[in-house]
Amino acid sequence: MDKTARQWLQDNAISVLDAVVDAIITIDSGGHILSANQSTFDMFGYRESELLGQQISVLMPEPYRSSHQAFVDRYLETGNATIIGIGRELTAVTSAGTEFPIYLAIKALPGDGETYFTGIVRDLSLQKASELAIAEQREHLARVGRLSTMGEMTASIAHEINQPLTAIAMYAQASIKLLQRPNLDRDKLSGALQKLNTQALRAGSVIERIQRFVRNEGGQREMVDMPELLAELQHLAAGDARAHGIEVVYSVSEPVAKVFCDPVQIQQVALNLLRNAIDAMDDVNCSNGNRIDVAVAEERSGVSVTVADVGPGIEDDQQDLVFGAFHSTKSDGMGMGLSICRSIIRDHSGELDYENNVGPGVTFRFWLPYADDLDYSDDAASEG
Ligand SMILES: Nc1ncnc2c1ncn2[C@@H]1O[C@H](COP(=O)(O)OP(=O)(O)O)[C@@H](O)[C@H]1O
Ligand SMILES: [Mg+2]
Repeated sequence: MDKTARQWLQDNAISVLDAVVDAIITIDSGGHILSANQSTFDMFGYRESELLGQQISVLMPEPYRSSHQAFVDRYLETGNATIIGIGRELTAVTSAGTEFPIYLAIKALPGDGETYFTGIVRDLSLQKASELAIAEQREHLARVGRLSTMGEMTASIAHEINQPLTAIAMYAQASIKLLQRPNLDRDKLSGALQKLNTQALRAGSVIERIQRFVRNEGGQREMVDMPELLAELQHLAAGDARAHGIEVVYSVSEPVAKVFCDPVQIQQVALNLLRNAIDAMDDVNCSNGNRIDVAVAEERSGVSVTVADVGPGIEDDQQDLVFGAFHSTKSDGMGMGLSICRSIIRDHSGELDYENNVGPGVTFRFWLPYADDLDYSDDAASEG
């Protein structure tokens, strides 16, 4: 910087600081506020006279409020920085007690026998709100996707429920007949009622699975055993595959550790891939066979799930289109399935892609990383 520019900055430093959108606060090693720019007062709702000389901790909610000075002391003693020179996301609090998310960057300014700290505080409220809105939209879309997948399966679901209902009616009639006989055969009656009960439970469990699948429960992640999740998928999709005369063969190459994910959304991805495979095989009237292979395997410190069909495969010129929204080659297709699947998998820091088989058909594959590979910025924040 040349001399004139430096002089100008010296003369106008306060106006420059006041023009900055971020709050800029300087404290001494005892945590007293020495200076703050205009944005500080606007952001935190204090007048200048209320803030200068105060402890910086008034701008922090608990637990940061109590632990702040210990961090400063530790830094002065050891030079070990947890925030200083690094910056991180934290929570701040206004004079009215409203908490809001911030990004805080601190720089130590060693002076004459005293160390000062300048902090730059960026208000993240708007950014966080829009991130939340996007996450809500994504979950909403995923839910619409689940409902639409169930819509595609209505015929086979109706069939799945009709079968036990028919059996229930049959066992009920048999029971009535047994009751009308002069000599009541209690064992026979009890047997018929037992079977009736089993069928009622069977119908109930079909409905329960569907409810679990469409229930608005997104965004809840937990440690999930992928083979278990696919066993559940097997129940959910069995009727649909059977209705199309297709055999789905599930296989697991052990060992597979648990992955941290939203089980309903991941099941939705797997079901969508399976439904597409069924449609594809149907498209060629199962002329290449009637078998779909679903396999789980450990891969690159994560878990992969592949769905391999022997349908028509995907033409090269369709490659860029299939994951796009509203792209469908089916007369009744919504074309949202793969687009939603990809957004779910990306949200889980995973991958979704496909490859045409050497023989007929295509293999879709999604991959989710193990939890240790994910960035836990929240854990870091709780350290102070
Ligand atoms: N297993 C598959 N084999 C062949 N084509 C497929 C397969 N899966 C998806 N596709 C193609 O990708 C398109 C988009 O799929 P998707 O997003 O699930 O929408 P939809 O199933 O409603 O058509 C399908 O219409 C189809 O052309
Ligand atoms: Mg589909």
